[in-house]
Amino acid sequence: MVRNMKEHLGHKVFGVVSDIVEETGEQAFVIGGFVRDLLLEKKSKDIDIVVVGKGIELAERVHKAFRGSHLSVFKSFGTAMVKIRDLEVEFVGARRESYRRDSRKPIVEDGTLEDDQNRRDFTINALALSLRKETFGDLVDPFNGVEDLENGIIRTPLDPEITFSDDPLRMMRAIRFATRFGFKIEDKTLDGIVKTASRIEIISMERICDEMNKMMMSERPSMGFKLMDRVGLLGYILPELKAMKGVSKVGGRAHKDNFYHTMEVLDCVASYSDNLWLRWAALMHDIGKPRTKRFDPKIGWTFHNHNFIGEKMIPSIFKRLKLPLDNKMKYVQKLVGLHMRPIVLSEEEVTDSAVRRLLFEAGDDIEDLMTLCEADITSKNEEKVQRFLRNFKIVRRKLKEIEEKDHIRNFQPPVTGEMIMEMFDLQPSPTVGILKNALKDAILDGVIHNDFDEARCFIVSKAAELGLKPISKIEDGNGKW
Ligand code: CTP
Repeated sequence: MVRNMKEHLGHKVFGVVSDIVEETGEQAFVIGGFVRDLLLEKKSKDIDIVVVGKGIELAERVHKAFRGSHLSVFKSFGTAMVKIRDLEVEFVGARRESYRRDSRKPIVEDGTLEDDQNRRDFTINALALSLRKETFGDLVDPFNGVEDLENGIIRTPLDPEITFSDDPLRMMRAIRFATRFGFKIEDKTLDGIVKTASRIEIISMERICDEMNKMMMSERPSMGFKLMDRVGLLGYILPELKAMKGVSKVGGRAHKDNFYHTMEVLDCVASYSDNLWLRWAALMHDIGKPRTKRFDPKIGWTFHNHNFIGEKMIPSIFKRLKLPLDNKMKYVQKLVGLHMRPIVLSEEEVTDSAVRRLLFEAGDDIEDLMTLCEADITSKNEEKVQRFLRNFKIVRRKLKEIEEKDHIRNFQPPVTGEMIMEMFDLQPSPTVGILKNALKDAILDGVIHNDFDEARCFIVSKAAELGLKPISKIEDGNGKW
């Protein structure tokens, strides 16, 4: 099938390439993701150009034609990239590749366009548009990639086992594209992944996680994790998530399947927020459940402290997945650790003191925590869901009232540890900690206001109980005693 896409190749770079290859007698094609996204009417960022001839030399000439562009040459890969403002255009000579079993590094030889299309991952990524003058914009589609795009199918051009063992990262790419576009992976291709799954072990975690994060950012990320589970990849990458699958029954009493529950929570959070790390918190929120699962004949299945165990499991999971170990991970840990609090709050009478404590611990992440907790209500019992959501409304109202009144969110006790040490001539010691904590509790419990004078008086009387007398007064930084 030949379709002409000339009108979509309006960028000046296509015309420049066309002029050059006319002169050199080479052939050049736009290929891969750019063509796929064009047909899907989606925005694409990068352009890949394959040249039946000398890719690097063509890139050098294109670079000269665009003032202010930047050229990077990767000699060992035989590729070059020209950056024209925000646009990255990659040039590569058409090649034929053969792989050894133990490595991702192929043996590369010059080849035809057909060789080049054969070595690509999916039919929808093997579409090429000619840049030669006489055929400018003609679509070259030897594997019916357009039909697969129209039918929403992910399929490899060659035997799937060859395509996947050549580059096992492609198994994750198949799942990522299926998730992102809502496509189906063709049965034979899916089978190929099942057979090749163990080869994922030769791929670096950074690259796997890159794919996983792209999946995470799609509209319905659950689709990706369910597919990873179905083809046997989940156990290699996130065994902790796989361990959540299944339902145990004792005497007819069953708990819910925590994997499918997590999938629901993840999609629900994704429908409210574009924050990747909030989505990770959703994925991880019950990760401590398998380790804390017990059966109590009186109350049934319990998962006591699964939130704290989950919070503790996260650093080793993030480290293994090569995810950041900085404040992004701390944010995920915090949400996982706190995710039971609003639910417990909403089940009891919502006291000011409990709300102040929650605000103090969640700080600026309180909104995200509430989003996660509301998504966490996935019971089949609609009446129960409505009751919880009503109670959450009360919790949210209370949070707003207390925050406006007491400004607890980024609260720091008005009398600091240094001030206490100076006041009572103390060295750093447990006594300082005891006094500081007592002050924090007094403010959070509403015994005193979040105010310097009240805090100072409170500390003096609390210290007196411990037999301490102030040797100096303290200042609040504004010269106030
Ligand atoms: N490709 C491949 N196998 C890979 C990676 C890439 O065959 N493991 C080919 C595909 O033809 C792909 C092209 O190289 O279309 C460009 O790859 P890349 O830029 O990584 O992906 P895109 O398909 O452009 O998609 P996206 O930009 O959404 O990642």
